[in-house]
Amino acid sequence: MIPIDLPYLRRIATRESPASILSEPKFLDAQKLFFEVVQDLKGTVDFEIADMREVHAIAALEDVKNKRVLDVGCGSTEPYVLENTFRNRYPPFFAEMLTRHGAHVTGVDIRENPTATYDHRQLDLTKKNWMKALDPPYDIIACLSLFNAPGSPFENNPTLCDRIMRDMHALLSPDGVLIVTLRDDCENPKTYLESMKFTLLHLDGNCALASPH
Ligand SMILES: C[S@@+](CC[C@H](N)C(=O)[O-])C[C@H]1O[C@@H](n2cnc3c(N)ncnc32)[C@H](O)[C@@H]1O
Repeated sequence: MIPIDLPYLRRIATRESPASILSEPKFLDAQKLFFEVVQDLKGTVDFEIADMREVHAIAALEDVKNKRVLDVGCGSTEPYVLENTFRNRYPPFFAEMLTRHGAHVTGVDIRENPTATYDHRQLDLTKKNWMKALDPPYDIIACLSLFNAPGSPFENNPTLCDRIMRDMHALLSPDGVLIVTLRDDCENPKTYLESMKFTLLHLDGNCALASPH
């Protein structure tokens, strides 16, 4: 399986003191990279939402150089197309960080991204054939803050989210890793992931790391 520092993720999830995170060199390195990317993409940091999960995932993924990554709903620096959302822009922080760590990243989003440094594909995930244009298998698939995006076609649409979960299973290498923000109404993540043919490796809030079976 892709090497992941699960003990680091467990320490982060269960830490008693917020300050203890500062003694984690991996966290400090990942945070430095994150702030560089945020600045370069003219983004903003939203600690209330999910940005730190991306930083922790970067810290925990031990060797992504030359690994094949797919980021589903990766974001873009272009204006947002959906109405009624709580944030206007979602720059592709995760795709960009992994690219800077030497991974071969393909990012999929409904928006184009002419400034992408990774292989950006403008695709509509609500269409059943979205995965036809891709070149699997991928070692890592990320799908962050997509299924619970307010005002999106995915929110409150378990049928669509589950279809994309199955698509991602088909695109993932047998020894690969999925990093996914689960649907808000997912009551039992372990059971849910089992039903989607994934084994839960780690859960932090509604963000799960899972391997396929
Ligand atoms: C909440 S943002 C999350 C972005 C990024 N993954 C993150 O964690 O910051 C949801 C993303 O899904 C994209 N999106 C919305 N509808 C889509 C669709 N039908 N097909 C593909 N991408 C879509 C949006 O453009 C946006 O970049």
